[in-house]
Amino acid sequence: MTGEEKMDAVNKMKIMFLSIPENESFARVAVSAFAVQLNPTLDILADIKTAVSEAVTNAIVHGYKDKMGIVEVEAMLRKDGVLCLSVADEGCGIGDVEEAMQPFFTTQPEKERSGMGFSVMQTFMDSVKVYSVPGEGTKVIMEKKLTES
Ligand SMILES: Nc1ncnc2c1ncn2[C@@H]1O[C@H](COP(=O)(O)OP(=O)(O)OP(=O)(O)O)[C@@H](O)[C@H]1O
Ligand SMILES: [Mg+2]
Repeated sequence: MTGEEKMDAVNKMKIMFLSIPENESFARVAVSAFAVQLNPTLDILADIKTAVSEAVTNAIVHGYKDKMGIVEVEAMLRKDGVLCLSVADEGCGIGDVEEAMQPFFTTQPEKERSGMGFSVMQTFMDSVKVYSVPGEGTKVIMEKKLTES
């Protein structure tokens, strides 16, 4: 987070957890509990939960496919009522981010993955950015306006 972003923050949190599937629901509920302080509608909260769920699941099943690791989720509420979320892993990384973000692209078809995770995040959030370095990890940054104005 840059100095400028810090000035914009009215609240901020960070959680870290092991990459076990049980922690997907933990992350979803934790982010939702954090976001609720701005009184978002239930629809907006549901959208955020879905997006967090997809990003955290990706970190667990793709990033840390062959190993256990730490997933870090950061959330920041900005003065303008926007929730900024970051979901990061230090897993295998993504070689071609543009390709990975295409609808129906998946590297795990045998596990019945549909390749729709990034599309879901893009549908439910106002913006989704993916930064990834093969062998180093992946960070997904998403934003969603919580209040009508
Ligand atoms: N954190 C990550 N680390 C490494 N690779 C990732 C990560 N997130 C996504 N990917 C890659 O991007 C592809 C597309 O991700 P996306 O979430 O859209 O689909 P999926 O996870 O394969 O299927 P679904 O989300 O529908 O179950 C994945 O198959 C995987 O190859
Ligand atoms: Mg996915």
